[in-house]
Amino acid sequence: MTEQDKEFYGEYMPLLVEKENLLLNEVKNILDSISTDSETALAEHIKSRIKGSESMRTKLKMRGFDDTVENGLTKLSDIIGLRVVLHFVGDVYTILEKIRQSDKWKVVSVKDYIANAKPNGYRSLHIILSIPFESETIHHIEVEIQLRTIAMDCWASLEHQLKYKKNIANTQLIVSELKRCADEMASTDLTMQTIRELIQKQGNE
Ligand code: GTP
Ligand code: MG
Repeated sequence: MTEQDKEFYGEYMPLLVEKENLLLNEVKNILDSISTDSETALAEHIKSRIKGSESMRTKLKMRGFDDTVENGLTKLSDIIGLRVVLHFVGDVYTILEKIRQSDKWKVVSVKDYIANAKPNGYRSLHIILSIPFESETIHHIEVEIQLRTIAMDCWASLEHQLKYKKNIANTQLIVSELKRCADEMASTDLTMQTIRELIQKQGNE
């Protein structure tokens, strides 16, 4: 958080930080409820962030809203974002089920870019949740949880860099090679999953 962000979020800042931590803890609890064994921990890592004020204002203006913090809290659904990076693709759906069952929030929508990859090859599962927000005028906010594998995360980071650079040579080739990698990674993610199941089904400890 920069000084500029703190100024923008003002009185809402402490509550936002509290909500970010609650969300993070709840998701960690869900992961632990599926596997407590550190060797078989589902997540490679979890990241959380409160959206930077610049990016929030740009998005609000792009959508035709005034760039106020109240609009940020009520019109956008990723003011708080969590990214859970997993070893195996199948665990995405186990976690989604647990998230649906929790009474800590309401699931607003799910976008399954794993079953339906974006044309560029982007894969992840996005869940929008509505969580309680105890401010005087705003009583709920929407937050986003992204679930993806290590392979999908690595791919998305590289592809993200491409979007923010100008005047890149051979863009077309890079885009088509990225797409090819995304598809190969998806195929490998599935094979890894199958191998894990084969190993788990047989043999002794
Ligand atoms: P925004 O993209 O957030 O404006 O909203 P949207 O309604 O289009 O949501 P979507 O679910 O498509 O994307 C939300 C987030 O997913 C983005 O902020 C990124 O973090 C990630 N994302 C979506 N598409 C891509 C993509 O093509 N490449 C990468 N690297 N990330 C993506
Ligand atoms: Mg988008």
